[in-house]
Amino acid sequence: MDKILIRGGSPLRGEVQVSGAKNAALPLLCATLLAPGTHELRNLPNLRDIDTAVQLLHIMGAHTTAIAPGTARINADEIACAEAPYDLVRTMRASVLVLGPLLARLGYARVSLPGGCAIGARPVDQHLSGLEAMGAKIDLEHGYIEARAERLQGARIYLDIPTVGGTENLLMAATLAQGRTIIENAAREPEIIDLAKALQNMGAQIEGAGSDAITIHGVEKLRPMNHAVMPDRIEAGTFMVAAAISRGDVLVRDAEAEHLEAVISKLRQSGAEVHCVPEGIRVRCEGPLQPLRIKTSPHPGFPTDMQAQFMALLTQAEGTSIISENVFENRFMHVSELQRLGARIRVDGRQATVDGRVELLGAPVMATDLRASASLVLAALAAENTTEISRIYHLDRGYERLEEKLSHLGADIRRVR
Ligand code: UD1
Repeated sequence: MDKILIRGGSPLRGEVQVSGAKNAALPLLCATLLAPGTHELRNLPNLRDIDTAVQLLHIMGAHTTAIAPGTARINADEIACAEAPYDLVRTMRASVLVLGPLLARLGYARVSLPGGCAIGARPVDQHLSGLEAMGAKIDLEHGYIEARAERLQGARIYLDIPTVGGTENLLMAATLAQGRTIIENAAREPEIIDLAKALQNMGAQIEGAGSDAITIHGVEKLRPMNHAVMPDRIEAGTFMVAAAISRGDVLVRDAEAEHLEAVISKLRQSGAEVHCVPEGIRVRCEGPLQPLRIKTSPHPGFPTDMQAQFMALLTQAEGTSIISENVFENRFMHVSELQRLGARIRVDGRQATVDGRVELLGAPVMATDLRASASLVLAALAAENTTEISRIYHLDRGYERLEEKLSHLGADIRRVR
């Protein structure tokens, strides 16, 4: 298994290009199941999760051709198999996003239940009750969700939680339903807007994406999409924190300020200079870092996917910070690994208290999930000596060419086998 070695202490300087967003690309790939014909997706990141999604489409009968780096054509003329097997769903929860499109197009879908994962139980009850409200008959048997519907019917759906995946599944399903669907308490993440734009490009009729009430007028059929994936706001945020923690000066190209308001605001409060320029976002940090209070919440609140990275940053602040994790119930696995580098963090339920003014020292650490791994990389950039990070397949799920991009900014980082 590969490992990453990082020798800390070099301020990052220069420019880095943000890749296409993993969390937008995954639902977009699933959305290709909605319409026959050849879809074209551009700005696709080269990541393990994207390979998994493509593998899933292949199982179902779609054909994918890469026509250039980051551009793929997906032919979805013949979708013969409506099943997402356990082996794939267990490696990537987002596989459950094929449920809505398959059911809408074929009237049947069999998708493995995702089960628990490292960051909590993560049920899919809201996906299922929404589909049931649209007339689907759902059975849970042998660890699989079996859904049937001759044609989905438009419905008024109130989500108990503004779930991102749930909103995406129901949005896709509703595009081909008969009549009008309204999703209330919908997730407002930028990835939902990107998906809605692609679906509109396919001929779907959608209003209100990005607000908490989305209205979809079902159509008889859709055409293939031609769409460029939005930039990855979490990758961008991670490089912004990397600039701050290393006391560097980095222009994150194509980072969209509109998607990153909470992150920008917290970085500014911490004392970093953040400039939103036409090419992206520039972060510069020289002076001392101030402690923060952070509460994660659904968009436009502070993203849970940036919580671990800010925790690494706050070990370097001039005082004690408090982080509350309100989206997932078990998302502090990075704490024990950060402690191995010398961080002083106490966890009490969903709250972590992070002492600042800590001198981090390189040590062997283990990545536990995607964003937890990113926090270890960031802490390593600020640590003395060398940090060795193992199990970096987690990083490869969501960060494209991370070591190459960081090394280009001046980090002393390398991957070893
Ligand atoms: C997506 C993102 C993930 C991010 C998360 C929250 C993708 C591929 N992944 O995950 O990176 O951390 O949003 O911003 O886009 N819940 C229920 N019932 C449901 C659905 C969700 O109780 O039916 C709960 C979950 O357990 C969790 C919370 O709602 O506690 C948020 O989950 P959700 O918004 O669905 O996250 P994902 O779509 O899985």
